[in-house]
Amino acid sequence: MTKYVKIISSGSYLPKNILTNKELESRVDTSDEWITERTGIKERRVADENETSVDLAYKASLDAIAKSNINKNDIGAIFLATCTPERKFPSSAVLLQNKLNIKNAFSFDINAACTGFVYALDVAKKYIESGQMKYALVVGTEKITSLLDWTDRNTCVLFGDGAGAMIIAASDEPGIISSTIGSDGSYKDLLTVNTDLEYIEMKGSDVFKTAVNTLGKLAKHTLEINSIEQGELDWLVPHQANERIILAIAKKINLSKDKIIITVSKHGNTSAASIPLAFDTANSKNTFKSGDMIMLEAFGAGFTWGSVLMKY
Ligand code: ACO
Repeated sequence: MTKYVKIISSGSYLPKNILTNKELESRVDTSDEWITERTGIKERRVADENETSVDLAYKASLDAIAKSNINKNDIGAIFLATCTPERKFPSSAVLLQNKLNIKNAFSFDINAACTGFVYALDVAKKYIESGQMKYALVVGTEKITSLLDWTDRNTCVLFGDGAGAMIIAASDEPGIISSTIGSDGSYKDLLTVNTDLEYIEMKGSDVFKTAVNTLGKLAKHTLEINSIEQGELDWLVPHQANERIILAIAKKINLSKDKIIITVSKHGNTSAASIPLAFDTANSKNTFKSGDMIMLEAFGAGFTWGSVLMKY
């Protein structure tokens, strides 16, 4: 059994096309002012028509692998979180494995909507702890704009495409201290993709309230079960759906804005990609210092939720 599991590198990729709030004003009855005030979003990225979520994952994974200094064939598993897979099957994880030409790994997809990356990290941590492998590639990737009804102002202004990845490894020191995941399928209809039309439908304010309540309790619980005082937390890397949700949760654990990684203004809600994208945005600026206490937390369709507490 391995004692600890540590993140050794992160990577990310954003498609080059930027869609601004101003441009959305010409598509639906909305305004830059409304979107900025209600969500904090200013722009988002949109993948090309022929660019898939696996293409985005591939570029983010190459970035993470290059920064890790490990041999890619030492990766024992690929855990890929997405709700916008390239094909119904085979999984996007095996398509990614093939593109990366990784030979000695097993690979599978995890779908927990916006919580997908936290679920994937939880699973990867447990595999590494079991001693079955030393290194795993954990990826969150979405081409979520492919699920948007561009005539529905309630949803089309909120989402963007992108991918983030991490290499995690067995370690003699912490590392991930704890991870918690949960779900409640009775909320299945509040945020869903209708199987006939294949568009996102959302009861926005119900999702908002439940997200704030659930994540507020989860963040407190995560600190409590690990005997960490609120003041000991150095960074919160939350799912980036709405800046108001992020700040409401931070308030519940007395965390000031300068300790929160906020990328929603530039990325929009990239679903399962949002946490690794936000993490890598900060990590590539050397924001995190060795020993920093970092919490990741996410909430998504299902509902699903999860948190990870780690020492960097
Ligand atoms: N531009 C202008 N007006 C708009 C827009 C828009 N883009 N969208 C909605 N409105 C209008 C509504 O029609 C409504 O008008 P009405 O009062 O005349 O009916 C008004 O604005 C207020 O709408 P609300 O939905 O009450 O606005 P709210 O402040 O709740 O903000 C939002 C809406 C941004 C969607 C918010 O509820 C939210 O962020 N919800 C949570 C989203 C989320 O966290 N998703 C998580 C996971 S996503 C996943 O798992 C894939």
